[in-house]
Amino acid sequence: MWKASWGRGVVLLLLLVPLLLVACVGTSSSDETGTGKTAQETEDHKGGPPSPKAQETEDHKGGPHSPKGHITMVVVGCTGDLAKKYLWQGIFHQYLSSVGKGHSFSFIGGGLSPEDKGTPRLFDILAAQTCPPEVPEARCTLVKAQFLRLVHYRQLRNAEHYQALGRHISTQLEEEGLEEAGRLFYLSVPPTAYADIAENVKRSCRPPPQGQGQGQGQGRGAWLRVVLEKPFGHDLSSAQEMLTRVAKSLKEEEVYRIDHYLGKQVVSQILPFRKQNSKFLQPIWNKNHIDRVDIVLKETLDAKGRISFYDQYGVIRDVIQNHLTEVLTLLTMSVPRNLTDCYEVDRNKQRVFASLHRLEKGSAVIGQYQAYNTEVQSELNKTKDHFSFTPTFAGIAIHTSLPQYEGVPMLLVSGKRLDERVGYARVAFKNNVFCVEDQSSVSCKPRQIVFYIGHGLLRYPAILVSKNLFRPGLVSSAWKEVEEENGDELLFGLRLSDYYIQTPVVEREAYTELISQVFQGRRERFVSADSLLASWRFWTPLLRSLEKEFPRPYLGSPHNANRLDFQLHGRQLRFTSQDAVNLIGQENTHESFQVMHGKFRGADMVSAWPEELVERLARDMEEAAEEAALSGSPFHLALSGGSSPLALFRRLAQHHHAFPWWNTHVWLADERCVPPGEPDSNFLALHEHLLQHVRRLPYFNIHPMPVLLDQRLCVEEDGGAGVYERDIARLVNASSFSYVLLGVGFDGHTASLFPGNALEPHGERLVTLSESPVKPHQRMSLTFGAINRARRVSVLVMGKGKHELVTQLSRIKDAADRWPITKIQPTSGKLVWYIDYEALLGQ
Ligand code: BG6
Repeated sequence: MWKASWGRGVVLLLLLVPLLLVACVGTSSSDETGTGKTAQETEDHKGGPPSPKAQETEDHKGGPHSPKGHITMVVVGCTGDLAKKYLWQGIFHQYLSSVGKGHSFSFIGGGLSPEDKGTPRLFDILAAQTCPPEVPEARCTLVKAQFLRLVHYRQLRNAEHYQALGRHISTQLEEEGLEEAGRLFYLSVPPTAYADIAENVKRSCRPPPQGQGQGQGQGRGAWLRVVLEKPFGHDLSSAQEMLTRVAKSLKEEEVYRIDHYLGKQVVSQILPFRKQNSKFLQPIWNKNHIDRVDIVLKETLDAKGRISFYDQYGVIRDVIQNHLTEVLTLLTMSVPRNLTDCYEVDRNKQRVFASLHRLEKGSAVIGQYQAYNTEVQSELNKTKDHFSFTPTFAGIAIHTSLPQYEGVPMLLVSGKRLDERVGYARVAFKNNVFCVEDQSSVSCKPRQIVFYIGHGLLRYPAILVSKNLFRPGLVSSAWKEVEEENGDELLFGLRLSDYYIQTPVVEREAYTELISQVFQGRRERFVSADSLLASWRFWTPLLRSLEKEFPRPYLGSPHNANRLDFQLHGRQLRFTSQDAVNLIGQENTHESFQVMHGKFRGADMVSAWPEELVERLARDMEEAAEEAALSGSPFHLALSGGSSPLALFRRLAQHHHAFPWWNTHVWLADERCVPPGEPDSNFLALHEHLLQHVRRLPYFNIHPMPVLLDQRLCVEEDGGAGVYERDIARLVNASSFSYVLLGVGFDGHTASLFPGNALEPHGERLVTLSESPVKPHQRMSLTFGAINRARRVSVLVMGKGKHELVTQLSRIKDAADRWPITKIQPTSGKLVWYIDYEALLGQ
């Protein structure tokens, strides 16, 4: 259809036809549309009369009680991703449910391209729109055909285009003799364009004031609503600036800032649920009963393809400052007397914001999935040593001084590349019941209410109340109780049958919900300027304090295991496991770092801040590997286990792409006698942090220690040590490794050679079984003899905790059996100590 030449006459003609059609459909009942108003809307209307101020505005602005008339909707950026994925679908559904209810519509898709290019693009998108499943096919086809005739494309690039648009709207109204209800502009464009478009709308497209309207309805004045999409600024001052610029052209009540979480069906029912069930909740919705509140949005997706946006924002700005914070306010604000009164809702939100304790660096833990930095380098054309500090994961502990919730931690958690896609808010209640015999009784199980926003195990949006709390009333007639769910799967420690579950009868996209709310003027479902500023006021100090904080690297699903687990210490959060990995990449934070060369125990020593030290070590190792490759001999590298080398592994994996892995053999300096897939396995750590990320390392050049033979771990008779020894002798020239990397333990052990080990520093044996004082006790290790034959031995010592050890080592001379590391004396090779400033200076 769009292929026809779109002269003005044709457009008008086509517009006339549907308007007549709409008029026909106007006589049909809402049932005929097959969709009807969502019961949620109906429910919310029960909330009582709006406050006088709200009432005045809504009535004036064409809110729920406004008279019918013609609505013009303009989507600026009408062929962009968002419009394509959600907006047109939402608009079409809105049209479907409005047909026959008295309004008439015209829809305009605006874009930068000229009409001959934009029109086909737009109509390709429109053609793909579908009806909700409950709409009969015949009805769907009919209404879709009407809808398509009501849409047209216009180029909206400059002020003249907006003037022409304004004239077009007036002419149409006049020619049709239509009474105007309102004009809705949906700006699906980058926020930098908001102010200019707002100005153009104000100058050329604002409906005429009261008494000067066109058509039959002169005198009443139509509404103007302009919908904006996040990001709404980057911090407090940029948000303020954006508000000010838009406010030059639009009144606050004309602006609808979308947070699509407010359109999620479950989120929109938090307040109605709290109100509906107040007789149960009122006694327990407080610090005496609530143990903790978790608000979580986990994603499996990465940020690929949108790094230019994401890298400036990161997870806190992208979803926590807005989506999760909105949920937090809905859970903690006083339930408004009138749920649809945007002023009351906003006032109550403000009280929550005002009560939140200021966040500090320690209130958050942050992480970054491993591939992120490489994605940044490639999408932003950065060099290989560019490092991004943008977190892709964050956990934040929030506290309020509202007496009702004082001391209750509220955890906001979100991340990309995690194990599953799920969103929920879980209110966990204290349970002081002690079950003496029947531990499986429901009264001893977790007591909780879960607002399950979507996806995850449940796969549908729902509100779940554990049966040991109360049986909730339905939030709305558009919701239903879920029949008994069976199965043994646990959701937050409870079987589904241990919950009362309610879910929407029909699932709706958040955007579809919100578009319908804009049409109805339901401002309480949007982000007010005050809320926006309050939120940024709250988040900005934390964001600033995290600017140069290195996010803990994590592998990205499904390997994160408990690497991102964190716990509360008072009001602070800490990762439960600590390691040196999170030091990598911090080089840009220390303006003053320097590498120092010196002597330690008679050997060479390199010292620097941790990150620089690790980089220096990686570089030295790479040089040695290159030298071997140039001379035509393989590079035999033996790596120890433990936590310090992990930093090096990650550095090598992320930054040393030129490393000649193809010529390298990787050996282990020591291994724990555990099956290879167990977390304690040194090989597993080596694999996760290094091997799986390097290409071009031939599999047959990887030599794990044979700790598991004949299904038994490190049994002497199985001869595992001998097997490894023979492999070394077979492959490594003169059994002399090119490079051995060691660490040193608090007790002076190195590799898995512990105090009391009687092996000679230059013995013939290459591999031994050994005994560790800590679990797992059994180990396999290179001997001093094997290490001391190496051409290069590096000992890496990192962290404040090693300061005392370093001090002692610098003093002692003999007592080698007590200090195994002192037996490392390469025969003809070179020993270099890499000691970071923290270990060296205790700082
Ligand atoms: C958007 C963020 O606002 O929300 C995305 O920009 C995120 O990064 C998305 O993936 C999550 O929304 P949903 O609806 O998929 O949970």
